[in-house]
Amino acid sequence: MADLGALPAHIGIIMDGNGRWARQRGQRRTAGHRAGIRAIRRVMEAADEAGVHNLTLYAFSTENWSRPRYEVATLMRLFEQTLQEEVDELHQNGVRIRVIGRREQLSARLRRLVQEAEERTAGNTTGALTVAINYGGRAEIVDAVRALARAGADLTQLDEPTLAGALYTAGLPDPDLIIRTAGELRTSNFLLWQSAYAELYVTQTLWPDFGAADLLAALADYAARQRRFGGVPELD
Ligand code: IPE
Ligand code: IPE
Ligand code: MG
Repeated sequence: MADLGALPAHIGIIMDGNGRWARQRGQRRTAGHRAGIRAIRRVMEAADEAGVHNLTLYAFSTENWSRPRYEVATLMRLFEQTLQEEVDELHQNGVRIRVIGRREQLSARLRRLVQEAEERTAGNTTGALTVAINYGGRAEIVDAVRALARAGADLTQLDEPTLAGALYTAGLPDPDLIIRTAGELRTSNFLLWQSAYAELYVTQTLWPDFGAADLLAALADYAARQRRFGGVPELD
């Protein structure tokens, strides 16, 4: 494997463009979502091969409920199916699965599959796959503050580590790199807190077309970045 330079420890992906991909082919949007699921598998394999073992995928936002009923129902069914089909192999590969987002609005069946997958893979340490379903960065922060208040924390003394520890992502490193496919230059409510210093990479490629070569291009771009975290550039 060629030396890729500095590697992100954790990549977040905003998987966008499924609808456009389908429209270009004269198909329904849901065909794009099906193709999008196939891309996930490819990208996970490519990330693993490249040495990135921590991925967070944005699958459904708190705002995505405003889509047509048929599309939402199809997406939810695809999440159920995919979880069911993929957990065995992910578990065999030592991947810990986590789902972040507001669970209450998911179907009882999906909640059960999520819980089973999480429990089964909880002890795995080779890799981490986090899937954001009914996820919103704002909702996450509100939920964290509510949880702290319920636990009796003194919110007048709230500090950043405490809030970070109450987010859905507690225990995960912040993403170093956020990839967005399909060209939009916005975060759409993804990992608002955690991506404070993430490097952003936007590609025109639509999610169902995204593959190993696109991931390697993002990694090469990342390796050439100079991260500063508010400081001054290092002297050569
Ligand atoms: C991303 O693709 C998948 C989800 C948001 C669930 P879109 O469905 O947003 O595709 P476009 O943006 O309409 O092309
Ligand atoms: C972001 O994509 C959400 C996911 C990828 C799940 P959207 O397609 O919902 O974002 P907007 O509406 O273009 O901002
Ligand atoms: Mg979109």
